[in-house]
Amino acid sequence: MSEDVRVDELSRRTSAEATEHFWPVEHLDALEFDPLLHRLLREEPVALVRMRFGDGHAWLVTRYQDIKEVTSDPRFSRALTVDRPVTSMTPHVVAPAGGIGRTDPPDHTRLRRLLAQTFNRKRIALLKVETEAIAERLVGELLAQEPPADLTEYVTGPMPEQVIGKLLGVPESDLGRLQAWRGVILSSDHSLEESNAVKAEIAGYFRALADRRLTDPGDDLFSELSLAQAEGALSRPELISLAVMIVLNALDQVRQQCSTMVYTLLTHPEQLARLRAEPELLPTAIEELLRFIPQRNGVGLPRIATEDVEVGDVLIRAGEAVYVSYLAANRDPEVFTEPDRFELARDESPNLAFGHGAHYCLGAALTRMQAEVILSTLLRRAPDLRLAIAPEEVRWRRGSINRGPETLPLAW
Ligand code: HEM
Repeated sequence: MSEDVRVDELSRRTSAEATEHFWPVEHLDALEFDPLLHRLLREEPVALVRMRFGDGHAWLVTRYQDIKEVTSDPRFSRALTVDRPVTSMTPHVVAPAGGIGRTDPPDHTRLRRLLAQTFNRKRIALLKVETEAIAERLVGELLAQEPPADLTEYVTGPMPEQVIGKLLGVPESDLGRLQAWRGVILSSDHSLEESNAVKAEIAGYFRALADRRLTDPGDDLFSELSLAQAEGALSRPELISLAVMIVLNALDQVRQQCSTMVYTLLTHPEQLARLRAEPELLPTAIEELLRFIPQRNGVGLPRIATEDVEVGDVLIRAGEAVYVSYLAANRDPEVFTEPDRFELARDESPNLAFGHGAHYCLGAALTRMQAEVILSTLLRRAPDLRLAIAPEEVRWRRGSINRGPETLPLAW
């Protein structure tokens, strides 16, 4: 038995034998899928890559099943990425050190538990009622314009802003500042100094808000977390980085994702017609949109192997860095038939758009809820909704982590 294991280990590639691929993470428009990811998924599902910033190389895992294994294997650590300049697409690490994304158990488990208590289904269900009212108002304002009007200006920009404002108890007058900070931090086009300065500002903002909430608590997530911090359940830096993570993700991802969902439906008219005819398909359609849309450029945070681990045909050595691409997993031909086709009523394996394992996205329910509310309100109130310009004229964001249209001019 031990001999078998040895032979097996010997037949696996290590980083010494693998070819290093340079991954420039170039700008992609619309729904274009990264060509390197597409190729590696089919030809070299565990590959060695180097990106523009950081040091050395890292493994990149692209298959659905391999990714599920890596992301649920405790031998891959996030905490070990702190202070380690793993090769990366941005000059700075977006997630703060000590932030939830860069912790391991027991710290990670403690933070997730705390959030599970406050950021729960009940809170999302309550928020849904308010979100519906916000969507009615915002879609009403859009439709009151002389077409064309921009969906991001009237609906997909302001909606997540107002929803997260309610969830976190951020006063409306401060939301503009948060949006400006988001623009700098979630981009790959700013210098390390610029993004560090903005990170310090946003952290200062939440420190002051935490102090205010202790004496003047509201019925919101941040007040509850501030109270938990005062009771010692989490540290001040943990509280601040949680708030920053939540706010940045909530502002950016929901806006980009919901705008791109509308673009995808409007550029697949036969699928849109089916959804209009069978509105009960909406939850399934949202899952397919999540699977099909390449939400981001490049990859998220890496993990570091704490011991030698076999993944696919590769032996990842202790200390090596590993990325997983959930985008690639969502296009795995072994899991999804004709993976590059958008098929609204597809009912196959769950998509991995929100990740997998212990670091599964905390905002998944909030995002799904907002997508459902935006799409159902638009479909109901604008039966002849269409792009006001040719699809190829839509301008797409450049130099950002999350992908999406700059603006989405609509007519109805
Ligand atoms: C389309 C929208 C979104 C997508 C596609 C998305 C995707 C993801 C992915 C792939 C991960 C990482 C999984 C991993 O590290 O293995 C993640 C983590 C996370 N997301 Fe999201 N997300 C979205 C929206 C949101 C929103 C709205 C929030 C907050 C309100 C949020 C908060 C977080 C947090 C805090 C984590 C870190 C969790 C942890 O490390 O335990 N996300 N998300």
